[in-house]
Amino acid sequence: MKVLVIGGGAREHALCRSLSLDPDVTDLYCAPGNAGIGEVAELYPVDALDGEAVARLATELEAGLVVVGPEAPLVAGVADAVRAVGIPCFGPSREAAALEGSKAFAKDVMAAAGVPTARSYICTTPEEIDEALDAFGAPYVVKDDGLAAGKGVVVTGDLDKAREHALACGGRVVIEEFLDGPEVSLFAITDGETVVPLTPAQDFKRALDGDEGPNTGGMGAYSPLPWADPKLVDEVMATVLQPTVDELHRRGTPFSGLLYAGLAITSRGVRVIEFNARFGDPETQVVLARLQTPLAGLLLHAAQGTLDLEPPLRWRDDAAVTVVVASHNYPDTPRTGDPIEGLDEVAAQDAPHAYVLHAGTKRDSDAIVSAGGRVLSVTATGKDLAQARERAYRAVARIRLDGSQHRTDIARKAAGE
Ligand code: AMP
Ligand code: GLY
Repeated sequence: MKVLVIGGGAREHALCRSLSLDPDVTDLYCAPGNAGIGEVAELYPVDALDGEAVARLATELEAGLVVVGPEAPLVAGVADAVRAVGIPCFGPSREAAALEGSKAFAKDVMAAAGVPTARSYICTTPEEIDEALDAFGAPYVVKDDGLAAGKGVVVTGDLDKAREHALACGGRVVIEEFLDGPEVSLFAITDGETVVPLTPAQDFKRALDGDEGPNTGGMGAYSPLPWADPKLVDEVMATVLQPTVDELHRRGTPFSGLLYAGLAITSRGVRVIEFNARFGDPETQVVLARLQTPLAGLLLHAAQGTLDLEPPLRWRDDAAVTVVVASHNYPDTPRTGDPIEGLDEVAAQDAPHAYVLHAGTKRDSDAIVSAGGRVLSVTATGKDLAQARERAYRAVARIRLDGSQHRTDIARKAAGE
């Protein structure tokens, strides 16, 4: 099978790595990719947001499957454009991707499907904003309705800051009840009817150790979650994933692709914080590190509506940890263009248990330089989280990137340290 992956972050590198290890994949392409993806796939400098261009490339390459990684192309209808030329595509339609593209739409679907989530108000005027903030009280949760790369949400005890963010969003704002308790990311593969859950992971959204600092796209992740209730996946399947997929099917806008449930395990039970319409980054790096089932066939079944034929997924017993190495000044105004050194040392000394997935990187003649906020996702497996953590951080220590930052506490508590 020839597979074309769309995107160029560490999530796409993780997808490409797993696809490259799948014996059914004969040729692997990625657009636009990055320096690391270029080692396992042939790169094409096509704009991921241009559906026509992506469909043309997929046709020229005679791809048997296109996998769309990021949310922006999905919300822009790239999966629809690929399907329109008769090529199976893993990723929801533009209409179904609104589950991520509009928080107000997601709230409406959840209400109709009886899915537990934070109570919320959708506000458009300063008066409505003040009323909603007053109704819930502190801590305040204020979200931009549209896509904001994980940076549109402010959670604060400060009423002035909450109001300021709400007004700065400019359009529709979602103000909601604060959810306490740990967060879990649970992904499910679906063809619009059948739903196959993956294994839960936990993401670290704040920039600094101890969950301090600003929200980011994610600074690290681990799986499995030793502290979670073993019945969690079954419960979320029954109360969240299947009802949501059924509701979108009932509306005539079936969701096929990856449904990402961001959950809070609150004192009053599981609640959905958000849905995403694609694999999470960096959670995918640890989830795929543990998935034993070949990836291409699974994604193709979802794309073709035959997921009911997929045998039960197989998982490694190993634990996995990923640590994001970010550039100077991420998430505000990340500095780019800095050379990255030490990648060869990781490959020579830490493989196969630890490896580097590239996010914002590019080739600059012989060097690899930073080209984004999140630069690398250093991933490791081990017999337990403590060993995976040790291996990941040993590899991180070999990387030299001027001004870079990473959290030192990824999976620390879960590993019992
Ligand atoms: P989102 O973009 O909706 O995933 O929100 C980003 C982050 O903000 C989440 O991962 C949570 O850490 C936090 N957050 C969002 N909604 C809530 C909420 N209702 N209560 C508490 N924290 C929240
Ligand atoms: N790690 C959070 C996300 O992918 O949205």
